[in-house]
Amino acid sequence: MQDLKPSITYAFLIIVSTLLLSPKLAASSSDNFNFGDEVFIQCGTTEYPDLGSTKIARIFMGLMDMISMEIKKQGWSTESLINPLTQIFALGECRSDLNSSICLKCFHHAREHLSQCLPKVAGRVFMDGCFLRYDNYSFFNEAIDKKYDQSVCIKSPLKENMESDSNATVLYGFQERAGRAVTNVTETAPGAVQKFAVNGDNKDVFAVAQCWHTLDREGCERCLRRAGRKLNDCIVVNDEGKSMLAGCFLKYSTRKFYAEEFNENAVKESNGQLIKN
Ligand SMILES: *[C@@H]1O[C@H](CO)[C@@H](O)[C@H](O)[C@H]1NC(C)=O
Ligand SMILES: *[C@@H]1O[C@H](CO)[C@@H](O)[C@H](O)[C@H]1NC(C)=O
Ligand SMILES: *[C@@H]1O[C@H](CO)[C@@H](O)[C@H](O)[C@H]1NC(C)=O
Ligand SMILES: *[C@@H]1O[C@H](CO)[C@@H](O)[C@H](O)[C@H]1NC(C)=O
Repeated sequence: MQDLKPSITYAFLIIVSTLLLSPKLAASSSDNFNFGDEVFIQCGTTEYPDLGSTKIARIFMGLMDMISMEIKKQGWSTESLINPLTQIFALGECRSDLNSSICLKCFHHAREHLSQCLPKVAGRVFMDGCFLRYDNYSFFNEAIDKKYDQSVCIKSPLKENMESDSNATVLYGFQERAGRAVTNVTETAPGAVQKFAVNGDNKDVFAVAQCWHTLDREGCERCLRRAGRKLNDCIVVNDEGKSMLAGCFLKYSTRKFYAEEFNENAVKESNGQLIKN
């Protein structure tokens, strides 16, 4: 995507980091994990030529309706519309640990945010539980995007204190466990059926990695390696960090943010649908 202007809504992040600071709130937030709280939007800078904004909005809505139906069934979807005047491609994908009602809810929020990009030729939105992008070319196997791939870190006062006390033993221990969790999901996801992995081995650090279903294994590995490198600086002392790349999503947190009941063994594939025991 050559012409995106990064525009990130930090207001949502502030809400989330406030939640993280309170153990009580954090506990209740993991019950209904706040998939929709953090929103990162990037919109293209150029507009579709020869198309009125009403027309492009109609096309967009049509595409989104098609994606909505598939998302409900299998948690992800790609759609495209190609005619002599224009071509538009869209990809939507939910985090694989979310059930279909949560997924659909996340998608509806994402769609609403993304519609703000119209009538630009491109836009993408990362929420905590889902990803949605449209563009004027087929980007479905794009693993990385040097210009627009991003990562964010969140730090709590607790960690601020640890850092200023510079208790190297504690800091290094955390860094090491966070690094292990991130490395584990980064290496596991590309070979998994859903291209998705979670890790909570260390009890105090949780990680999730996911590639879009449209990537092949090599693209997924490339994306997650880069996503992991982007978190290196976060891991030193932050409670939470995530990478949001063209082809994948990687997050770790001291809070168990993925679905409580989820574990890899509970996911089976049946007609492309997720089934949770
Ligand atoms: C989906 O997950 C949410 C959060 O865990 C839960 O509250 C809801 O009951 C689930 N819905 C279904 C249909 O399983
Ligand atoms: C997509 O839009 C960009 C920016 O307007 C333009 O340069 C490019 O040619 C377009 N690509 C296609 C396939 O239409
Ligand atoms: C650092 O933390 C560890 C583990 O809690 C503790 O054993 C050690 O005494 C602390 N060191 C300093 C210098 O505070
Ligand atoms: C990741 O962690 C799981 C669970 O502890 C373990 O079984 C698996 O071998 C690890 N995989 C890698 C590649 O580290």
